[in-house]
Parts: sequence; structure tokens; C-alpha cells
Amino acid sequence: MNSPTPVGEDRAYLDFVLGMKQYFATTVYAKLHDQYARGGQINQLPAYPLFEWLERNTQKMMWRRLDEMIRPHAAELEAGLDTLPEHSVGSLHLDRSLELPDYYAETEFHIQPGGVWSGAANTFVYEVGARIVMLGQNDDYRFHRLFVETGIPRREYRDILDLGCGFGKSTRPLVDAFPEARVVGIDLSAPNLKLAHQQAERLGKPIAFYQRAAEATGFEDASFDLVTATMLIHELPMPVLRQVLVEALRVLRPGGQLAVLDFARTGDAFRDFVMEGHGARNNEPYLPHLFKTDVRRLLSELGFEAAEELPFDERGAGLREDGTWPTRAEWHFPWVAIRATKPSKVLKKSALREVFEQRAGTV
Ligand SMILES: C[S@@+](CC[C@H](N)C(=O)[O-])C[C@H]1O[C@@H](n2cnc3c(N)ncnc32)[C@H](O)[C@@H]1O
Repeated sequence: MNSPTPVGEDRAYLDFVLGMKQYFATTVYAKLHDQYARGGQINQLPAYPLFEWLERNTQKMMWRRLDEMIRPHAAELEAGLDTLPEHSVGSLHLDRSLELPDYYAETEFHIQPGGVWSGAANTFVYEVGARIVMLGQNDDYRFHRLFVETGIPRREYRDILDLGCGFGKSTRPLVDAFPEARVVGIDLSAPNLKLAHQQAERLGKPIAFYQRAAEATGFEDASFDLVTATMLIHELPMPVLRQVLVEALRVLRPGGQLAVLDFARTGDAFRDFVMEGHGARNNEPYLPHLFKTDVRRLLSELGFEAAEELPFDERGAGLREDGTWPTRAEWHFPWVAIRATKPSKVLKKSALREVFEQRAGTV
């Protein structure tokens, strides 16, 4: 099933909204930065009210229009998603008994009405929105390919698990980069997974999709060589983030690799303040917790080795091995690649305790 494409008035409206997003990211951001350079508290500067209004409201306008465009076709889209291809190269495993956790179901992340899980229309709204929201910087999902190509150490991985795979745009490049590996994607959202499965099948990419929580994947101990998570961890409350990392450690084989792409503080007061504000304006309630966490230290405490965080430039060459942040005059996300390995020999005591407590359901 093809995703709807905005045409006619929808296209004109969305082009206008994207134009406003560009204006926010370039002219207004630069103005705010200029005023900040001359001194003063950021949220008291003259350009700040327009800056924050544009960021929140263009996002709302985009979702509303996409929703109006797609919702009338919900039944047809739902039926399309339920029609599975006759011959599959991959597979889809939904769990109708899975209860969505409150932190997930009660938050409209990115201000998207109904989130990405409450129906077929929602996943298509998300898919079309994701194509246009990055202002043409993610055409053909270049960003996701770049992460896989530059952010994941080249090894021979036999089994790969993508946590929070969405509709598969972070999972498909794993198949291209590691064609010999078994690739598995998990997500909480059934409609996302159905769309992920359809798109992967259409493209001939063998991926097994499961409806499971990243904090309790149900896979066997030591059954993957690589665990990835793209744009997932900033959507998790702190205790769940810990659980997810412990779970990743559990399912990794000794010597296995964790590779996460998410946001980080840059140490630049202006950028960090604006990014935290972005979290609030874009309904990302757990982002401040992530920003307060020393992820490298947490990974080491949990029993990972060689934990590192490296800036990632999605508009340039991807991973920045020299550790410097890209400098740009326009607003851009502070992406970071977080990498760590599971020790090849024994787990540290702390990690063993966490794994044990998690299994006992006490964390
Ligand atoms: C921002 S999207 C990123 C999707 C995909 N990784 C990508 O890069 O396009 C976050 C995804 O994580 C899923 N998600 C959130 N919390 C989750 C959890 N605890 N377990 C599994 N999936 C989760 C959401 O349903 C959503 O599809």
C-alpha cells in the first residue's frame, strides 16, 4: 500500500507550513542568536516569542493538515495494512495482548494527535510527516542510512535487533549494510509495524517485525550481536531507559555492540537552552531527563564497556570521529551516536543484579 501524497490544496498548504518552518530555522533562529550574542537571557530576547510560537504552531499545523487529508481514508488504509503479501521475505508478529505502557500511550509525542499507535491513519500521518518534517534534509531517509553507514562499527553481525523501529526506516538500511545478518525490528505500535512490514516486503528486505517493548523484548539471552535504537531513548522515562539498556545488555552476545542515535547536550549554552525548549514545545516530556543523564557513565555502571558519545552530522558526513559539534547558522538537532560493547567475558556484578531484578519485575 502506497502512502498518501499531498497534492493540490494540501500540497500548497503544507508547502506554506514548511516555508514557515524554514523561516523559523534560518532567519528567526539567526536573529535570536544575534540578540543572544549581544547579551541577555534567551527567553527575554525580542525574537524569542516569535521563535517559540513558530516552532510549536507550524508543527501543529502540519499534523492537523495531514490528519484532515488522511483520516477520511482511514478504513481503506486500515484494510490495506491488513492485507499481507502472499509471499513474504520477512515476517510480522503482532501481540494483541500487549498493554501499552502509560508513559507511551498518554503522551502525544511530537504533538501528533493520537500518537503513532492509535490507528492506521496515525501511522500514515506519521510517515508522511516524517518525510517532510526534516525540511528536505532526510530525502530518501538519507539520515538513517548515514547513521548505519558511519555510526555502526563494521563487523560481521549475525543477528541484529532494532529497538523502537517505527515503520522501519531505521531498520531497512541495516539489511543493506549487513545482508548476511538476520534483522529484527520491534516497536509498541501495531500500525507502525504493519506499515514497516509492508514497506520492507515491497522493497524485498527480509526483516522480522515484532510488537514488543524495548524494555522487555522477550528474546533469549545473548541472541544478538548488534542492538540499535534510533530516536527512541529521548522518548523514555529514566527508569525505562535503564531497563532498556539492561535489556540490550542481556540480549547481546558477549562482545556485542550497542549503537544508539539520539540527542545530547552540546555544552553550548544557547543551543542547549533552545533544544530543551524544543523538547517542551514538541511534547517530548522525557528529553530533560536524558539531558540530565551522563549516558556514558550509566552504560558503564550497567556493565557495558567502551561507552562513547560522538556527535553526528546528518547534513554532512555523519559520525564526527573528532568529537566536535557541527557549526551551522541555522537551527539543527544535536544528534549523537552512543556506542558501547558488552564485555566479552564476565558481566560486572551490578549488571548481573540489574538483569536479575528486571527479570523479577522489580526495577
Ligand atoms: C521517533 S520514533 C523512531 C522510529 C525509528 N527508529 C526511526 O528512526 O525512524 C520512536 C519509535 O519508538 C517506538 N517506541 C517508543 N517507546 C517504545 C518502547 N518502550 N518499546 C518499543 N518501541 C517504542 C514508538 O512507537 C516509535 O515508533
